[in-house]
Amino acid sequence: FLPPVMFGDSWSSYHIQVVTSVVFFFSLLPAVVLCAYLEMEGIDLKDRSVIELGAGTGLLGIVVTLLGAHVTITDRAAALEFLESNVQANLPPELRPRAVVKELTWGKDLDNFTPGAFDFILGADIVYLEETFAELLQTLEHLCSERTVILLSCRIRYERDLKFLKMLRERFSVSEVHYDSSKDVHIYKAQRGSRRDDF
Ligand SMILES: C[S@@+](CC[C@H](N)C(=O)[O-])C[C@H]1O[C@@H](n2cnc3c(N)ncnc32)[C@H](O)[C@@H]1O
Repeated sequence: FLPPVMFGDSWSSYHIQVVTSVVFFFSLLPAVVLCAYLEMEGIDLKDRSVIELGAGTGLLGIVVTLLGAHVTITDRAAALEFLESNVQANLPPELRPRAVVKELTWGKDLDNFTPGAFDFILGADIVYLEETFAELLQTLEHLCSERTVILLSCRIRYERDLKFLKMLRERFSVSEVHYDSSKDVHIYKAQRGSRRDDF
């Protein structure tokens, strides 16, 4: 049994404290780096439509909601209760309607999500299981329109992670937009076709 641990940090003048497990605690770094990137780059999320895949603790989705977006925060069914309680505990009542927690298992029941409905698709540390790569790509393709920007923060740990990037490049225009050397986290931006827009 691994006891829950607390992770706390501040964004946009809010202090966020999520309950996590020891395993997730160490995997929070890509989420932290992506949150910092969005804020540091001043990416305008006000009233934008965002979906987070494989949200885990919900840290990224919570921060993006605090930055003004309407966010659909997703994960597998088994993760939803814990995710919902972190989201509820960290958003002030007036912002709660902006964050919806919903089941999304990659490649499954994608019709529950309107194709192309999102300005941003975000994922932190979701590239790690080779058996899910095809379904993850299928999900990105379903959700992505010409105007959608995908941002994935990843730690490149294994050869198979590079394989995912190769598969991603076959379907999207991909560029590395940030590398945090202290945390060894890369952020990749992907868009349909040959678009390489600024945000
Ligand atoms: C390493 S954790 C990262 C969690 C969170 N994004 C973060 O940065 O802390 C990977 C997440 O992907 C989710 N996941 C794994 N396989 C999935 C699948 N097939 N469909 C949807 N989510 C999946 C897991 O439930 C988990 O929450």
